[in-house]
Amino acid sequence: MSIAIAYSRASQGIHAPLVTVETHLSPGLPKINIVGLPEEEVKESRERVRSAIINAGLNFPSCRITINLAPADLPKEGGRFDLPIALSILAASQQIPSEILHEYEFAGELALSGELRAIKGVLPFALETSKAGRHLFIPESNILEATLIEKLKVYPASDLLRICVHLTGNDPIACSVVRPANLETLNEDRVDFKDVAGQKHAKRALEVAAAGGHSVLMAGPPGTGKTMMAMRLPTILPQLDEDDALEVAAIKSLSLNGFDASEWRERPFRSPHHTASAVALVGGGRTPRPGEISLAHNGVLFLDELPEYDRKVLEVLREPIESGRVMISRANHQTEFPAAFQLIAAMNPCPCGYLSDPKRSCQCTVEQINRYRNKLSGPLMDRIDMHIEVPSLKSTELSQQTEVPESSEVIRERVVLARARQLKRAKQINAKLGTRQIKQFCHIEQTERDFLQAAIEKLGLSARAYHRVLKVARTICDLEGKENIEKNHLFEALSYRRLDRNVSHS
Ligand SMILES: Nc1ncnc2c1ncn2[C@@H]1O[C@H](COP(=O)(O)OP(=O)(O)OP(=O)(O)O)[C@@H](O)[C@H]1O
Ligand SMILES: [Mg+2]
Ligand SMILES: [Zn+2]
Repeated sequence: MSIAIAYSRASQGIHAPLVTVETHLSPGLPKINIVGLPEEEVKESRERVRSAIINAGLNFPSCRITINLAPADLPKEGGRFDLPIALSILAASQQIPSEILHEYEFAGELALSGELRAIKGVLPFALETSKAGRHLFIPESNILEATLIEKLKVYPASDLLRICVHLTGNDPIACSVVRPANLETLNEDRVDFKDVAGQKHAKRALEVAAAGGHSVLMAGPPGTGKTMMAMRLPTILPQLDEDDALEVAAIKSLSLNGFDASEWRERPFRSPHHTASAVALVGGGRTPRPGEISLAHNGVLFLDELPEYDRKVLEVLREPIESGRVMISRANHQTEFPAAFQLIAAMNPCPCGYLSDPKRSCQCTVEQINRYRNKLSGPLMDRIDMHIEVPSLKSTELSQQTEVPESSEVIRERVVLARARQLKRAKQINAKLGTRQIKQFCHIEQTERDFLQAAIEKLGLSARAYHRVLKVARTICDLEGKENIEKNHLFEALSYRRLDRNVSHS
């Protein structure tokens, strides 16, 4: 009778809890029994492991084999456990030393030939391996993700036999500890705000939005640069720090397309189409995968043509907008993914698009316009901090630019300073301030309070809108480097609430 243990990890949200793969050989008729994997996965895994061991030229023990993947109640995807299962069988049958297995963690799906195939979610796995102080064996094709974790010893493996040779100490595989040096400079052809002509007002508003992390709705006629500017928002946001970048990469690593090294430390920009399903947006699936809102974590979620989205789909965004995370419920467990995104939405002012356009006249009736806007629910609109008008440019503005627009880098410097002030004051960016913090950090004097109160009444704004105005004013004040919110800050913040008002044809 003999027992061997190999370590691996399951995938749960962006966490990777430890799984112990324990193999027990006992006399009896040849039979493999796997406990702790879903039924449908067991059969496939059993076949792959058996063929891989035989095709590697090793012995598949001919006795009773019991394999236990603990804890049993953890949801597990089959493929990644092939490698630790195979190794624990080989150790239990004394074909490789069993003590040394404990220094490592293993993941990889085996082909029948014994070759290793890539798995999803290597980065969250590798993070936890590193915390546990072990080394990691993963398929060669996953290696780049794992090398993002500094100090972790990662061993790229091509096939089962090669790993066995390494573990017996005969011909060690070289470990990759070095993060590729060119990683930071991979993405060179970035978009830039200097490509955007005119639109000074909209650019200023986006600078404010970037500085305070505020959500934005842009409204304007077709072809005025709304999409163009939204795509450039990440270029004026502060660069991600190491921890945030790892979190972003970890989420990407769990997604269908996997992590792309050229995006390392870039703020994500996601723009799901308006036909996207609720699952595509918030995440889901049998093994829950992150949705667009999680892929936009620490970055920008751009919803173009906002009124075209299914209202039910938009409603599911309300919760994550407030909480910064999303829970996906399955029959027997819940998975949580982070989803702290900055929402940027765009729309035309009316169905034909030309309501505010001085050059073309709008063909819509007031009813049509109101119906179009009513597709956006009040509660969602209330949760958007800033409304920005993006008017059509005069034809000369595009053709005869007199001054070169500011580059993203220059704008970003101001944003970084304004954010530093916020973090120093409240350990939070302004968009995230709660009601009590608003009282504490967005204090205004009596005269300003009277002014704001009168303006709110005149514009018919809601109580929620009142708080949003204060937070945006705080950010405008921070961009200016002032301590106290002044009337002109409030005035500008109020100018970003135009869509709260009712439509009238003028
Ligand atoms: N301010 C601008 N500066 C430079 N180019 C611009 C500007 N506005 C529009 N363009 C040009 O027009 C194209 C269309 O702009 P964009 O797609 O951003 O418009 P939009 O406002 O999103 O329109 P729609 O409402 O139809 O979605 C851009 O790709 C760009 O080439
Ligand atoms: Mg557009
Ligand atoms: Zn119209």
